[in-house]
Amino acid sequence: MGERLKHFVESQQLDEKLIYNLFRGADSFRQNPRSNLNLDGKTVAMLFYEPSTRTRFSFESAAMGLGAKIIGTEDAKKFSSTAKGESLEDTIMVVGGYCDGIVLRHDQNGAAARAAEISDVPIINAGDGKGQHPTQALLDAYTIYRELGSLNNIKLAFVGDLASGRTVRSLCYLMGKFSGIDITFVSPENLRIGQDIQDYLRRNGAQFREDANLERVLPQVDIVYMTRIQRERISAEEYDRAHGKYAIDENNFRLIRRDGRLMHPLPHLEEIDLPVELVKNDKRVAYIRQAHNGLFIRMALLAHMLG
Ligand code: CP
Repeated sequence: MGERLKHFVESQQLDEKLIYNLFRGADSFRQNPRSNLNLDGKTVAMLFYEPSTRTRFSFESAAMGLGAKIIGTEDAKKFSSTAKGESLEDTIMVVGGYCDGIVLRHDQNGAAARAAEISDVPIINAGDGKGQHPTQALLDAYTIYRELGSLNNIKLAFVGDLASGRTVRSLCYLMGKFSGIDITFVSPENLRIGQDIQDYLRRNGAQFREDANLERVLPQVDIVYMTRIQRERISAEEYDRAHGKYAIDENNFRLIRRDGRLMHPLPHLEEIDLPVELVKNDKRVAYIRQAHNGLFIRMALLAHMLG
């Protein structure tokens, strides 16, 4: 599968060859989830300092599906010795002695890079503050590839909290590696996409722009990628200015092209307001399939890094 990743901290670490190899691995696990027990006898630690449904459950299921055992705590902030003031570095060095790899979610930007700097065992970034969520980007790209058949010549709209949303940041870093990428950013004025992402896209030759009119953008793109306003990362004042400004409901959903797709890293709140019938039956709604893809892509990633 090419050179093995020691740690996985940010999307920029992946090259095209590895991305497609991981997709092939994910396809193979989808067809036969019990085909490969190459983590038999290994232990994976789930060190989560922030709440999670998808990332944690899918990583746990992926590790167990590969034959590994898992260790962890429900809430590392509360039930690990972090609550007594232990540093992240000490926790990582100690926990690393009990396992073969650590899946780390943390509320501080840069926590995964700090952990990787001193860890003897592989660190997988499962989201670090407003920084990155690279395994989400991988499963998002896998979803786009499966739904549209290519990662080249894709028009995307990123909508919502583009300042705090780490999934958008990671996916921009990943999609920027492909050709013919065209991105429209739609966000409240106070939560616009960062300059670092704009600089990166410019350097990589991707087209991008900002547009405040969601209804104008919807019919123009292949992928509508909605995001939640991240109340936990901004002040109450900032939240009040931003929330409720952009949403997909039954009226504007009709503007999404017949071959377009609605994605969301989830959880979603008011920014998606669609009946369950439509969510289950309209193939344009891709976000439940997107979440399920996380299991297979994380199996492929764990097999690649720890197998
Ligand atoms: N997409 C995502 O990271 O979801 P969770 O917070 O539930 O893991």
